[in-house]
Amino acid sequence: MDTPTPDEGVDPVPAALDRTRVPTHVACVMDGNGRWANARGLPRTEGHGAGEVALLDVVNGALEIGVRWLTLYAFSTENWRRPADEVRYLMGFNESLLMRRRDELHQKGVQIRFAGRRDWRVPRRVLRRMDESIELTKRNRTMTMTMAFNYGGRAEIVDAVKALVAEGVSADKVDEKAIRRHLYFPDMPDPDLVIRTSGETRISNFLLWEIAYSELIFPEVLWPDMRRRHLYEAVVEYQQRVRRFGAVHP
Ligand code: IPE
Ligand code: IPE
Ligand code: MG
Repeated sequence: MDTPTPDEGVDPVPAALDRTRVPTHVACVMDGNGRWANARGLPRTEGHGAGEVALLDVVNGALEIGVRWLTLYAFSTENWRRPADEVRYLMGFNESLLMRRRDELHQKGVQIRFAGRRDWRVPRRVLRRMDESIELTKRNRTMTMTMAFNYGGRAEIVDAVKALVAEGVSADKVDEKAIRRHLYFPDMPDPDLVIRTSGETRISNFLLWEIAYSELIFPEVLWPDMRRRHLYEAVVEYQQRVRRFGAVHP
């Protein structure tokens, strides 16, 4: 099978990027695959396939500059609304991507996780590959790569509230800390930087709780064309922003 390898080392880290102020957590909405394919007269699924090289190049770029947490939106709770053929392709593609790439990610010290609902719609085979990848990489500490898969920000908050209620937590004990403790990954820091490709300027149900104070960047590049240089450009732009968290900047 054709397993494209990203061209490592082509995009140098720009001098403008301050390596001492790299965002701890970068989250990406990998958008624009369908438009990329349409523009080439290809079926939409070809666009998803072409996103694999982009994903690997972004992972390698993130490792290069020392990003500790990388979260990638791969399939939303709303993406089930797409044509059955496309959904089927996406399930199989994510499964085969794990098969093709998990050893190399493991060798690079990447811990693979999945955020989202494990409901009946996700084929058992896919869940099995996910579990194998989690198990294989669970001791890795260089970077945690979380695939948001069958993920919805509202669903995550609903699941957290459900867990609180199931524990019998009383109303006066419900606070932000209590909700955070019941999110999918309580140990995951909030994203510092969210990048959504393809020029769409919306969040589409991604990490709603966690992005309260994230810096948002919307580059025009379509995901299959995304490379580490676009990540570096976004990080440079991020480093020019002033994060106030509601306070007054000195
Ligand atoms: C993002 O690309 C991939 C997924 C949602 C799985 P799209 O498939 O949404 O591409 P566009 O937005 O139609 O171009
Ligand atoms: C968000 O993109 C989901 C993923 C990238 C996985 P969509 O393409 O599904 O979002 P909308 O429908 O344009 O808002
Ligand atoms: Mg889209």
